[in-house]
Amino acid sequence: MEYWERNGILFIPRLTKRSDLDYDLALLSNSAKTVIAPLKVDSQNLQLQHDLTDSQCSFRWSADKEAIEGIGDHDVVICPAFVSLDVPELRISSASHGTPFDTLVGRIIELGSKVSGLQLGESVVTFHPPIVKTRLIIHRSRICQLPDSWSAPVASYVSLSLATAWHVLFHLARLNRGDHILIQVNSKPLCHFLVQLAQQLGAIVFLVVDSEEERILWQELKGILASRIFNSQSSILGQPILRATGNIGVKIFITTCCGTALNDLASCLAEDGHLIDLGRKIQVKDLSRKFFTRNITISCVDLSRMTDRTLYDLLGEGLDHVRAGHLHGPPKPTITSIAELNNVFQSARSGNQSDNLVLSFNEGAMVPMLHALPPALALNPNGTYIMSGGLGALGLVIANHLVNHGARHLLFLSRSGAVTSEQKDALRNFRDRGCKVDSVKCDITNANQMKKAALICKENHWRITGIIQCAMVLRVRTPSIFIRLKH
Ligand SMILES: NC(=O)c1ccc[n+]([C@@H]2O[C@H](COP(=O)([O-])OP(=O)(O)OC[C@H]3O[C@@H](n4cnc5c(N)ncnc54)[C@H](OP(=O)(O)O)[C@@H]3O)[C@@H](O)[C@H]2O)c1
Repeated sequence: MEYWERNGILFIPRLTKRSDLDYDLALLSNSAKTVIAPLKVDSQNLQLQHDLTDSQCSFRWSADKEAIEGIGDHDVVICPAFVSLDVPELRISSASHGTPFDTLVGRIIELGSKVSGLQLGESVVTFHPPIVKTRLIIHRSRICQLPDSWSAPVASYVSLSLATAWHVLFHLARLNRGDHILIQVNSKPLCHFLVQLAQQLGAIVFLVVDSEEERILWQELKGILASRIFNSQSSILGQPILRATGNIGVKIFITTCCGTALNDLASCLAEDGHLIDLGRKIQVKDLSRKFFTRNITISCVDLSRMTDRTLYDLLGEGLDHVRAGHLHGPPKPTITSIAELNNVFQSARSGNQSDNLVLSFNEGAMVPMLHALPPALALNPNGTYIMSGGLGALGLVIANHLVNHGARHLLFLSRSGAVTSEQKDALRNFRDRGCKVDSVKCDITNANQMKKAALICKENHWRITGIIQCAMVLRVRTPSIFIRLKH
């Protein structure tokens, strides 16, 4: 026995170790392990696969099998440069948009024929890419251009916050000049845009901060009065804030908090006020019965549930304000390499990751990678493939593969020619599939007969491109190494 088959798996004894062949076989059976290899963002068609469960997560790069040459008229191809993780989503472990990534910024490398207003090499931003690829095809409606004043890492860090702030203040809060607004949000860029936009609308901003440094920053750099900045460490904030408004209360309260802190802060809301929840953690039991007797409106905001059109319109409108110079100095992110993705993701999940991190797709980053399958065999349709002994059991199987992979002329050499019905059927099948088939009777151990076969090739101008030698008569002698084989 020269091979052994069980449950569809073929076991073939080999005397020489071939690790490259083993790796290809493992790739084919989906059992290959990743290797750490340099990421070639510019020259390889790769995709980033993720495998996320409640207990673990892993990312790996592999060949982008769906990479296609042509793109749609309204598509844009971008090469990723920076991406931010959807950290808050991860903490509740069910990102509604199905991707662990929040905002991706990339460089345009190809434009569809009907795309206007964009240029090759320009940086653009897109939200929640369902999959990350080195050659990412996106519809024109799902990208926005970066303002000149924003770098690519800043854009990947703050774009979603800008769209959120714009939506909250202009579409939900409907602020008027002189309105009191209380802002308590954990995200730095979100707080930054909410305060700046609210100030621009002439609202009076009250702010809850987490530290003395933040208080100084808002007071000195952003011009908020010290009497309107409150520290989240204080056990009671609602009543002091109410007093600071001259007991009028705040018209709008934007928050990411929940539990007793929420109930306390909500007590400074005016009658007919509006509580806008950005943390998506509020529960009815967090709020006292009295809260529900005061005509207060509650809005819960989740931009990931908005239609693409609404989301990119919001970002576009927010970016117009950046271009007009109304919004200054967005906070800067910390940049780390995409090589750290698995570690960063693990930390983010356990809540240990700062939320100002963006990942850079730096060329040559050492990343976990599944090497690509070898390219499919493509045989020369103008060549002649000689199969000595090819009319036997093995030869006909190999011949079938040759035809599958593009061979269009097979020449069989054997002493008896095609005589059995199985051989004749096989040759007919090859011809039906467009492959020319010739069979020459010839003993390959006989030099004269081989010369005659060579002459036939020459006279017919057949270009011998490959020779597969299957002509053998095996005499099994015991004990054979194969008889002792278990697998
Ligand atoms: N089958 C397998 O799974 C397997 C696996 C590994 C290796 N192999 C080896 O591969 C070879 C082919 O296997 P197979 O199963 O296809 O054997 P096979 O069915 O017996 O086929 C052998 C073919 O070789 C031809 N042949 C024999 N001596 C020849 C010669 N002097 N000149 C021209 N043609 C000659 C035979 O045709 P004529 O008698 O008409 O000349 C026959 O068509 C064997 O040596 C086998 O040990 C086979």
